[in-house]
Amino acid sequence: MQKKYEFDYELLDHAGLLSAQDQVLLNEAIQATQTAYAPYSNFKVGAAALLSTGQIVIGSNQESASFPVGICAERTLLNSVGSQYSNATIVSMAISYDPLNKPSTAPISPCGMCRQSLLDYENRYHAPIKIILAGKSGQVMVIPSASHLLPFGFDGSILK
Ligand code: THU
Repeated sequence: MQKKYEFDYELLDHAGLLSAQDQVLLNEAIQATQTAYAPYSNFKVGAAALLSTGQIVIGSNQESASFPVGICAERTLLNSVGSQYSNATIVSMAISYDPLNKPSTAPISPCGMCRQSLLDYENRYHAPIKIILAGKSGQVMVIPSASHLLPFGFDGSILK
């Protein structure tokens, strides 16, 4: 039996076409890039989450002299929300980046480890996280659920 996996997402020409709430969140993610510690890659990533309580929490990549120890912005944020705001859920997350001396004019997409962590979080709280991806300017992608980014992801249900 032949099957197909597909999902709907939005591609906007610029951030001004986002809802006011999503524009605020994206601006928080852009600002959060400046809290990154990225002396090795010089690639600063910022993420901002809107919680069900209305609060916005930010995260950024934090690198290590022992490179694999470093952590991406998305997982910094998910771990922070999971531990400090365990009674809230994440409604949406914006992700942006500031690469030293290079343009930031197109969306970047979360790495594989972060996709797993996003899926873990969605499954833990039984709620989709809307993902907003953009550079400091240019087109914006809006993906209705992080689960779309990890087709056939491991959800741990077999461990129970
Ligand atoms: N990085 C993130 O923080 N998020 C992503 O989605 C992609 C990559 C970080 C990891 C590392 O500190 C730097 O960007 C270069 O890979």
